[in-house]
Amino acid sequence: MKVKKAIIPAGGLGTRMLPITKSVPKELLPINMKPMIQYALEEGVKAGIKEILIIIRKDKDLIRNYLTGKVDEKLLNRKEIKYLEKLTRECKIDFAYQKYAKGLMDAISLGEDFVNNEPFAVLLPDNIMVSRIPCIKQLIDLFSERDKYSYIILKKFVGGIEPGEVDIGGVEYELISKNIYKITHIKNKKKRKVKLKNGEIGIKNFGRYVFKEDVFDYIKKFRTEYRGEYDDTPILNELASEGRLRGKLYNGLIFDTGNTAGYNKASLYFMNK
Ligand code: UTP
Repeated sequence: MKVKKAIIPAGGLGTRMLPITKSVPKELLPINMKPMIQYALEEGVKAGIKEILIIIRKDKDLIRNYLTGKVDEKLLNRKEIKYLEKLTRECKIDFAYQKYAKGLMDAISLGEDFVNNEPFAVLLPDNIMVSRIPCIKQLIDLFSERDKYSYIILKKFVGGIEPGEVDIGGVEYELISKNIYKITHIKNKKKRKVKLKNGEIGIKNFGRYVFKEDVFDYIKKFRTEYRGEYDDTPILNELASEGRLRGKLYNGLIFDTGNTAGYNKASLYFMNK
């Protein structure tokens, strides 16, 4: 089955980017004058996504205003406005409201009716991906070949070359075929980070997913056990333990723009492009 729907979760607190996120949603912070959520939207549209659900909270309505709000008549003919209107017409955009920022999986759980028993993509707007073939399309294409798995995107790090970028063994895996891995375990992101030694290889997953529709059963299963922020670790680990999670090694650029250092790095890259 073809993946035509996507969820973009944007309901988080943006704690790492305070104080600006006190009043401006992180997802609207511009990278070279373009809000980071727009990069995710463009990636989804380029990958053939037709319907997108954006998860926000009540005090993040600025995101909704930016994407679908009215604009002063005098600005209607500006090319930047026309471009944005064209983009938001290329796919159907809906919004759902998360009551409290209780974690990524809590946000995704709000998409169950929207997804309506179809496989779907998830794009985290604070990960900006750069590649000729859109990152999410690479996972969607894999899913159309073999739809019994859910898929995540992976990046390989080598200690000494990109020191400090990854905790050792963020992901445990077995190689299946060129650039495709069977995931056997995912370490909790919040656990203590250990830097890679020189030459040591670590693989880490980033914010692009294609889930089979039954992921909502897993979300419900773990919700009661989970205290604090409900992240993706228990779900991915359960899928991994059943041998139903695959990862694709990404050969493009990834910017983690959810923290100041990554945000600045992305800004420099796009300014000089
Ligand atoms: P992050 O953990 O990177 O964002 O979530 P955050 O929680 O806003 O940031 P910090 O940790 O407080 O600094 C990745 C994506 O998931 C969304 C975020 O908005 C972000 O786009 N998210 C996170 C939700 O939609 N709801 C949540 O409860 C948590």
